[in-house]
Amino acid sequence: MNHLTLIGLVLVLLASKCTPTRIPKYFKFGTATSAYQVEGGWNASGKGESIWDHFTHNYPKGVVDRSNGDIACDTYHKWREDVQILKGIGVDYHRFSISWTRILPDGFARRINPEGVRFYNDFINELVNNNIEPMVTLYHWDLPQTLQDLGGWTNPDIAIYFEEYAKIVFELFGDRVKRWITLNEPLSFCEITYGYGFGAPHVSSPGIGVYLCGRTALLAHARAYHAYEREFRKTQGGKVGITIDGIWAEPMTNSTEDIEAAEREIEMTFGWWVNPIFSDTGDYPAVMKQRVEERSRLENYTISRLPEFLASEIDMIKGSADFLGLNHYRTWLVGVNESPIDGKPSFQKDKGTQMHQDPNWKPSPQIVPWGLRKLLNWIKKKYHNPLVYITENGYLDFSGTLNDTNRVTFIKVFIDAVMDAVEKDDCNVQRYTYWSILDDMEWSLGYTAKFGLYHVDFKSPNRTRTPKISAEAFKNLIKRRQL
Ligand SMILES: *[C@@H]1O[C@H](CO)[C@@H](O)[C@H](O)[C@H]1NC(C)=O
Ligand SMILES: *[C@@H]1O[C@H](CO)[C@@H](O)[C@H](O)[C@H]1NC(C)=O
Ligand SMILES: *[C@@H]1O[C@H](CO)[C@@H](O)[C@H](O)[C@H]1NC(C)=O
Ligand SMILES: *[C@@H]1O[C@H](CO)[C@@H](O)[C@H](O)[C@H]1NC(C)=O
Ligand SMILES: *[C@@H]1O[C@H](CO)[C@@H](O)[C@H](O)[C@H]1NC(C)=O
Repeated sequence: MNHLTLIGLVLVLLASKCTPTRIPKYFKFGTATSAYQVEGGWNASGKGESIWDHFTHNYPKGVVDRSNGDIACDTYHKWREDVQILKGIGVDYHRFSISWTRILPDGFARRINPEGVRFYNDFINELVNNNIEPMVTLYHWDLPQTLQDLGGWTNPDIAIYFEEYAKIVFELFGDRVKRWITLNEPLSFCEITYGYGFGAPHVSSPGIGVYLCGRTALLAHARAYHAYEREFRKTQGGKVGITIDGIWAEPMTNSTEDIEAAEREIEMTFGWWVNPIFSDTGDYPAVMKQRVEERSRLENYTISRLPEFLASEIDMIKGSADFLGLNHYRTWLVGVNESPIDGKPSFQKDKGTQMHQDPNWKPSPQIVPWGLRKLLNWIKKKYHNPLVYITENGYLDFSGTLNDTNRVTFIKVFIDAVMDAVEKDDCNVQRYTYWSILDDMEWSLGYTAKFGLYHVDFKSPNRTRTPKISAEAFKNLIKRRQL
C-alpha cells in the first residue's frame, strides 16, 4: 500500500467515524402523553367516569402504589405551562389523547359536555399558536364506564358507539387536527386486561374475552376510519391511522422451532392487528387462525375462540389506515414453549412461546436499538413498506433522577437506528415520538415508573415540573438535526 492510498484510507475512515448522521428534512420529532395519565380533573366540569376512574377507586390494590389519576400531572389546569415546555424543547408535534367521557360524559353521543370541548379547544389552539402540530389519539384505554357495564370491548356493538364518538371529535377539532390515531395499543387493552386480568376494567377472560376485545377493536377502528373518509376527509384533509405496540423477537437459538416461535410471537402480538389492516388478506395472520382453531378444538370448544370476521367486515378493515403508528419499547429472545391442553385456554398458550432478555446486551438489555431497526424492516417487507410513524419509544427508570444519562443514550441510539432504517434500508418512517414529556401515571405501576423528559413533583400541589438532562439532549438533537 503506497503512501497516498494510506492517507486516503485514513481520511475515509475518519470521515465515516466523524460525519454525524444527518436527519432528513421531512422527518419530524414529537412527544406523547395520554389523557388519563396526565390530565387529572377526573370529575371536573361534567366529566363522566371512565374505566380507569372506576377501577382505581374500587380496586385500589390494582395499582402498585395504590394511586390513581384523579389529579395526575394536573395538565387539566397546567396545559399552558405544558405547551411552553413543549415549545422549549422544540417539538414539531405533540401526541395526546382525548378523554371520551370529558366530551361525552355518559359515553353516548346524545350529550356533549361544553366544558370538555372548551378544554381541548384551548389546548389545541395553544399548541397551534405555538407552532406545535396536535396529533390526537381518540382512545387511550379510558372507556366510559357506562359502556363497560355493557361488556366493554367484548361487546361488538361498542364499535358503533366508538364511531359515533369519533365523528363528534372529528367534527369538533378536525379543522386544526390533521393526524388522528383511532386506538392506542389494542394488544395492551385487550391482552393485559382480559388476558391477564390486570388493570381496568378488572375482568379476566384469558383465551376468549381477549379475542372478542380484539375483534371489536379492529371493527371500531375501521368504522372510525370510514366515517372520516365519508364525511370529513374532503373538507379536512387529514390522515387517520392506528397505533400498535410491537416488540422485536429475536430467535433464542438457531433451531427451526425457535426461529418459527420468534416469527409467531411477532405475528400473534403485532400481526394480529397489522395484518387485517395492512395485508392483502384483510384477516388475522394464518398462523394465528390455525393455532387458536386447533387448540380450541382439542379443548372441545365447538368453534374457534378466535371469532371470524364476516366477508363484509374484512372488506371494511382491509386498507383502513393512512399510516401505521408504532409503539416500540423492547427486544426479547424468543423460543418455543408448547403447553399441554389442560382445558384452561389462554393467549399465551395459543402462542406457544417463551421469552427472556440477554443480560449481556449492550448498552443494556433495555436499550436494544437494532431490535427496532429489524422490526421496521419486518414491517417494510411484510406490508409493502407502509408509512410508519413511531408514536411511542421511551426509557423507563424507577429512580426519577434528573441526571438521566441512560435516557439520553437511549434516545440517541434509538433515533440512530431509525435513521439507519430510513437511509440504509429505505423504510418509510417519517416521525419519532418520545414517550413521555412528563413523568406520569403509568397504569398499574402508578407513579413508580418514570419515562419523562421532565420530572414532576407529585407530592407538591403545584405538580412542579423540572427538566432532566434528557430534555436538554432531545432539544439539542431536534435543533441540530444530527446525531
Ligand atoms: C370530585 O371528586 C372528589 C374526590 O376525588 C370529590 O371530593 C369532589 O366533590 C368531586 N367533585 C365533583 C364535582 O363531583
Ligand atoms: C445463528 O446463526 C447466525 C449465523 O450463522 C449467528 O450469527 C448467530 O449467532 C446464531 N444465533 C444463535 C443464537 O446461535
Ligand atoms: C375433550 O373431550 C374428550 C372426549 O370426551 C375428553 O376425553 C377430553 O378430556 C376433553 N378435553 C378437555 C380439555 O376437556
Ligand atoms: C451524572 O451521571 C453521570 C454518569 O452516571 C456522572 O458521570 C456524572 O458525574 C453525573 N452528573 C452529576 C451532575 O451528578
Ligand atoms: C406553588 O406555586 C406557587 C406559585 O408559583 C408558589 O407560591 C408556592 O410556594 C408553590 N408551592 C409549593 C408547595 O411548591
